[in-house]
Amino acid sequence: MDKYIGILTAGGDSPGLNAAIRGVGKAAEGAFNMRVIGFRDGFRGMVGNRTIRLEGAALSGILTLGGTILGTSRDKPHKMPVGDRVIDMTDVIMDNYHQHHLDCLVCLGGGGTQKNAFRLMKAGLNVITLPKTIDNDVAMTDVTFGFDTALNIATEAIDRLHSTAHSHHRIIVVEIMGHNAGWLALGAGIAGGADVILIPEIPYDVRKIADAILARSRGGKHFSIVAISEGALSIEEHARLLAAAEEQKAEKKKKKSKDADPAKDHSDPYDPGYAENNTARLSRQLEELTGLEARVTILGHVQRGGIPSPADRLLATRLGTACASYINDGRYGVMVAARGDGVEAVPLDQVAGKRKVVPLDHPWIETARLVGTNLGD
Ligand code: F6P
Repeated sequence: MDKYIGILTAGGDSPGLNAAIRGVGKAAEGAFNMRVIGFRDGFRGMVGNRTIRLEGAALSGILTLGGTILGTSRDKPHKMPVGDRVIDMTDVIMDNYHQHHLDCLVCLGGGGTQKNAFRLMKAGLNVITLPKTIDNDVAMTDVTFGFDTALNIATEAIDRLHSTAHSHHRIIVVEIMGHNAGWLALGAGIAGGADVILIPEIPYDVRKIADAILARSRGGKHFSIVAISEGALSIEEHARLLAAAEEQKAEKKKKKSKDADPAKDHSDPYDPGYAENNTARLSRQLEELTGLEARVTILGHVQRGGIPSPADRLLATRLGTACASYINDGRYGVMVAARGDGVEAVPLDQVAGKRKVVPLDHPWIETARLVGTNLGD
């Protein structure tokens, strides 16, 4: 055996993870004579040393499977809940890495996983990452795998909502995932022809949305589809949460307390926990302002489930096989990013802690406006 590699999937599951595991595993084993083991359930499984041998048969028949055969979790190595305590498990992870004589740990994940992998790199491990998430918000890659599948699912949902909204002359407010980034809502909204698209990057004015819906009614279109990203906020809510975040920051600085109650931590103004209420509130407000009946559809985790699209399988396979090549070359501490039809090794310090949101001058925003979509501003 030339090299020993470990692989884990962390964060929310995403279509294409198994295609990526297969890509890394087949290339590592077949082309580069490496041995691959998987750790179950993300970093938590690595702490518990729960492994699965990824060879031959284990890598077959998984290309089209949704989810992850390894299981996943949102646990962080340096802050792992154990009983009623939160413990830094970095040393345990290091020990298990060495116990398996690993040359490299491959971490498949979104923004949080990139950060955790970077921490492990700084602690002394050879790591390499792949960018996955339906949110498409990982920095320094053109796209993440999982996004295309979720885009298909959300678009199909908007397509289906059109006929029922039309039949009942209703407004349908459809909430789309994406965490703090509007890629999924914007992409699906454009592809599905939503009449209003609301994303976290553009705080919305409910009166302007109501005006746009009323203008449609006057033009004989007595229904509207409002695609709202789970992180989208009204102008008022946005301002209120920014102020609360500032206050919280000042408070924290004053106290210099490291163990503030996370339940009271409002420092992220785009926390989707707020947006869930926003969607229902927006629907009620639109009913009041337009006199039209409104309904809410929350797509939720259905957007992450099921068979990965061909585009995601292709992307995940490209990135997975490139990952094995990089390991063969001893190229560690990087994320295997998608760049056009190729790949690029991006140093982890350029990815960790960064988030790719929709730039306000992004062509998709211009496209939406040019077809007459209201963006809430
Ligand atoms: O990051 C992927 C994602 O599906 C987000 O779009 C969403 O905000 C979040 O995960 C939901 O997380 P969970 O599956 O833990 O409820």
